[in-house]
Amino acid sequence: MMEPTPQPSTSFSSDAVRQGIVIRLYRPSDAAAIRQIAFETADRGQSMTHMLDDRELIADVLVDYYRRYEPETLWVAESEDRVVGYLTGSLKSGQYRQRMAWNILPAAAGQAVARGLLWQRQSWRLARAGVDTWWRGGLGRDVDLKRYPAHLHINIKEGFRSQRLGHALVERFMAQAAGAGLRGVHAGVREDNVGACGFFKRMGFTALTRHPVVLPTRDSYQLHYTIIYGKTLI
Ligand SMILES: CC(C)(COP(=O)(O)OP(=O)(O)OC[C@H]1O[C@@H](n2cnc3c(N)ncnc32)[C@H](O)[C@@H]1OP(=O)(O)O)[C@@H](O)C(=O)NCCC(=O)NCCS
Repeated sequence: MMEPTPQPSTSFSSDAVRQGIVIRLYRPSDAAAIRQIAFETADRGQSMTHMLDDRELIADVLVDYYRRYEPETLWVAESEDRVVGYLTGSLKSGQYRQRMAWNILPAAAGQAVARGLLWQRQSWRLARAGVDTWWRGGLGRDVDLKRYPAHLHINIKEGFRSQRLGHALVERFMAQAAGAGLRGVHAGVREDNVGACGFFKRMGFTALTRHPVVLPTRDSYQLHYTIIYGKTLI
């Protein structure tokens, strides 16, 4: 996969949150660290290996769009030269949907199949849960992208949470979105991720809508909900 060229820094690109922590823009050399954090935190801050044990697939789906197509809005938190958290942001959620559907997901799935994905019972169970989610209307596209054209995902490594890294990363991205003249930002959070819901509310987001999402358990399936939070900028 082609790596993006390093982006010019903005006035926010390197800025101490507290001693030893730096918030800066993504560099191609951060890719492995970000992919590792994505894998470790995919299920409400924990690993999702109980649902899918293909770390490459998880990282490809969660991170690759942002580092390939919008690296200029991918922020990292660094402690002692180690990436300990990131915010993947998009100022172009319409483009994100297109690229995910036509580029990222087909490529990630193709590579996973070549690694033997189709032989794993777990992947069939996850696929069935995906179909069930779709059937219940859970792949809803009802976020108003004119009102909330930007979106973000954020993950901080365990051991570095509750130290205002999340706050600092979100502030950087919100400033970028406002600077680009966008009207609002949205983010999806599982309803049972009580901590992250509390964080987004504290950051001034309000709940816009709620979608069903079906996930496999060890021997069954469970219905959850994703809340879409939004924050207006102008
Ligand atoms: C959710 C997450 C991004 C928050 O980042 P963080 O660095 O831990 O949060 P911060 O220390 O910056 O907190 C910022 C504010 O949110 C509040 N907040 C943070 N976690 C909270 C929680 N669990 N409940 C209520 N409020 C919370 C803080 O009290 C703080 O408020 P203050 O400004 O009054 O002090 C981080 O904990 C995380 O990565 N969790 C696991 C992965 C995850 O769930 N990601 C979100 C999925 S979309």
